[in-house]
Amino acid sequence: MFLTKKEQEMCDGEYGETIRKSMDILVALGDIYGASKLVDITSAQVSGVSYKTIGDAGLEYLQDLASDGSGKSTINASLNPPGTDLDNWEALGFPRDFAVKQNQIVEAYANLGIVKTCTCTPYLVGNVPRFKDHVSWSESSAVAYVNSVIGARTNREGGPAALAAAIVGKTPLYGFHLDENRKANLVVNVNTDLKGADFGALGYIIGKVVGGGIPYFKLQNTPDNNNLKSLGAALASSGSVALYHIENITPEYELAGEADIEDIMFIGEKEIAETRKNLTTTDKEIDLICLGCPHASLEEIKDVAAVVRGKTIKNKLWICTSVSVKATADRMGYTQIIESAGGNVVCDTCMVVAPIEDMGFEVIGVNSAKAANYVPSMCGLDVVYDDVENLIRFE
Ligand code: F3S
Repeated sequence: MFLTKKEQEMCDGEYGETIRKSMDILVALGDIYGASKLVDITSAQVSGVSYKTIGDAGLEYLQDLASDGSGKSTINASLNPPGTDLDNWEALGFPRDFAVKQNQIVEAYANLGIVKTCTCTPYLVGNVPRFKDHVSWSESSAVAYVNSVIGARTNREGGPAALAAAIVGKTPLYGFHLDENRKANLVVNVNTDLKGADFGALGYIIGKVVGGGIPYFKLQNTPDNNNLKSLGAALASSGSVALYHIENITPEYELAGEADIEDIMFIGEKEIAETRKNLTTTDKEIDLICLGCPHASLEEIKDVAAVVRGKTIKNKLWICTSVSVKATADRMGYTQIIESAGGNVVCDTCMVVAPIEDMGFEVIGVNSAKAANYVPSMCGLDVVYDDVENLIRFE
C-alpha cells in the first residue's frame, strides 16, 4: 500500500507509540485487502466497549495504547454501548465489580479521544457523516445504516481497526469505500405490507440468504427511519450485510445495478409470519422486556409512553437508548410516563452487551430480530419476539 512521507514517519514512531501501533493495524489491514492507499475519514464509531465482550485483556490493551499520551482522535469519533448504564448502574441492579471495570474501559477510550456517546445509533445524536464521506464504523447495525441510509462509505470494521482509524484519521481504501463494490447482487421483491417487527423478520431472512452480499429491496410500503435501522440490524446479524439498497428510498439505489441482477427472491406474508414465530424460543412468561436494539429513537420512546400511559406494567421494561435521546425524553415527559408505569429508560447499554444473565432474568421480550438472534447465544436466555404492544402485560 502506498504511504505518504508523513504516513511513513507515523509508522516509524516519529509521532509516538500510540500512532505507531495504530498505523501498524491500518497498514496490515490495507496490505491484506489490497488497498491502494489510506484515505482521510470524517467520522469513526468504535465497538468493543462492554467489559462482557472485551474483558481484562481488552482493558489492558486500551490502557497500554493510551499510556504514553501521544495520540488522540481528532475527528468525530464515538463509542458503542458498554455493559452498564454508566450513571445509573447501581439503581438498575448491575453488579458492582462489573461496573467498576466498565467505567475503566470507557475512561481508557476517552483518554484516546473517543467521545463517551455510548450508542449504536450515533447517527441520531451528533455523529452524522455526509453522503459519500469516508468513515470507519464498527458496530454492524450502524455500519448498515451509515452505508445504506446515509450513503457514507465504511467497511465493517473491527473495534481495534476503527479505533486505529479514529486516532490516525485515515482508513485503508478498499471494499465498500469504492463505488464499484457497492452494487447489489440479489433482488428481493416483498409482496406484502410490512410494519413493526416485520422489518426485522425480513432482514433476518435475507441476511441468512445473502451473507456478506448486497440486497436490493422492492417494498410495497414506505419504511421510516426506525424501520430502516431494524432492517439493517437484522441483515447484519443473521448475515454480515454492510450495505443494502431500497428502490426509491435509499440514496444509491439507482447505482445498485438492479437491472443486471439475475438472482431474485420473493417474500410474502407467510415467510414473514413464519420467521417472526421462529425467532421466539419459548412459551414461558417474559420477565424483562428489552426494547431499543438498535438504541431507541425519541419517536420509539414516545410510542412506548403512549402504550403504557396511566397503566401498571406486570413485567420489567427497559428501553435502551443514548444519554442524549433520554435527556430529550425526560424533557418531553416520556420518561416520567414510562417510569410511572414501572418501566425504565436505560442509557448507554443494551440487552446483549449487559450482563443480564447474571441479573436474575430468564426470558427476554424483544421487538428486534438482532436481539432475538443474539440474546440466546450471547446471554444464554430465552426470547419472545413480537411488537411492543404484544410483549407488555399490564396489572
Ligand atoms: Fe445496539 Fe446492542 Fe442491538 S449494541 S444494535 S442495542 S445488540
